[in-house]
Amino acid sequence: MAIIPPPVDATLTIRPAGPAAPKFAHPSEAEFARLLGFYGVRWQYEPRSFPLRHHDDGQLLEAFTPDFYLPDYDTYIELTTLRQSLITYKNRKLRMMRELYPDVTVKLINKRDYLRLLQRFGLEPRGSGGVPRVDRILFSELDIARRVEELGRQISKDYAGRELVLVGVLRGVTMFMADLMRHISTPLRLDYLSLSPYQGDDAQLHFTKALEEDITGVDVLVVEDVVDTGMTLHRLLQYLERRGPRSVQVCTLLDKRVRRVAEVAISYTGFALDDEFVVGYGLDYRQQYRNLPFIATLSD
Ligand code: IMP
Ligand code: MG
Repeated sequence: MAIIPPPVDATLTIRPAGPAAPKFAHPSEAEFARLLGFYGVRWQYEPRSFPLRHHDDGQLLEAFTPDFYLPDYDTYIELTTLRQSLITYKNRKLRMMRELYPDVTVKLINKRDYLRLLQRFGLEPRGSGGVPRVDRILFSELDIARRVEELGRQISKDYAGRELVLVGVLRGVTMFMADLMRHISTPLRLDYLSLSPYQGDDAQLHFTKALEEDITGVDVLVVEDVVDTGMTLHRLLQYLERRGPRSVQVCTLLDKRVRRVAEVAISYTGFALDDEFVVGYGLDYRQQYRNLPFIATLSD
């Protein structure tokens, strides 16, 4: 049996999901393409076949055509939402594939994993439980990671040689803070505060968790998930100023500028947002959806 390697420079066309979407062999493939689209992950449907076995006379006996190729990850995906007997058959093909093409990455995704993936990302319609489903992904995990890294780099540059205290406003900021911090290379102290949702009419702020670090004479960077009307932040900044820091600046992941009521100066913004309610990456709707790794709108 002779093995003929596939052409190395096989030119591949990017076929986006949408009107020009290819004919999928199985509905789950169309659904998977939609999932990738949500993420902003580029994909190609069955762009390449890998010869596995040839007859002695050169006739091709068996080939493997993975369902998807993700050019940004240089990875092929094979969906197996099929019967167990077919899974065994596919596993055998995959073993051959790995032997013959050790440099090609192919991942097998089975039905159970796949459904779990859909559920985890809120893309599966929920029951009548009244929890709305995720509608549109505005910023993918990758978009966020890239932007947060940029912000971290900028902050590191701006605060080099200064005494920095990051003050996070709970609870929406948890994911953003954790990721942002990792990209700040200057030494820093970390603190959090949490505002009571029931703020009185008095100028006094009410905390469910107050500041613990002494911020006198140091550079404070307030880290927020989203600045909406800016009312909370405005009062918070006044409160921090009274504690005698050298400076107070604001870094927010999302800025809903159009909804601003109280003017607050923002030094670092992840993404500007229109008047839309979003969840994920720490942000909640009735305490749900904080664990989504991306930022999305909800249906209705
Ligand atoms: P504001 O700027 O005083 O109006 O308050 C902003 C706060 O409202 C944020 O810190 C969030 O906790 C919450 N918030 C505003 N917009 C959203 C959203 O789109 N999703 C989730 N929470 C939001
Ligand atoms: Mg908040």
